[in-house]
Amino acid sequence: MKKPITIKKSIVKLRNTGTQFYYPESGEYLLEVLELHAIEVEYQCRSGYCGACRLKLVQGNVTYCQLPLALINAGEILPCCCMPITSIELEI
Ligand code: FES
Repeated sequence: MKKPITIKKSIVKLRNTGTQFYYPESGEYLLEVLELHAIEVEYQCRSGYCGACRLKLVQGNVTYCQLPLALINAGEILPCCCMPITSIELEI
């Protein structure tokens, strides 16, 4: 179950294409928002367990509703279970 989080209006930018869009204030996880914009991201569990969705966060910060179990390196995020708390830039 998703824990409600208040997020400020932020911008998501993709470094590789220059694409950018506003993150909705409706509380979707980042993976869902990327999919809404037809941006393909690999995934399996969609719950922070497998690590298949890991992306490189170039700038900004995200928050997790609960600590994910998948291992990630510094500078990586799991978009299936996080939301930006600032404007962010991703390398996809
Ligand atoms: S899809 Fe499994 S951790 Fe994101």
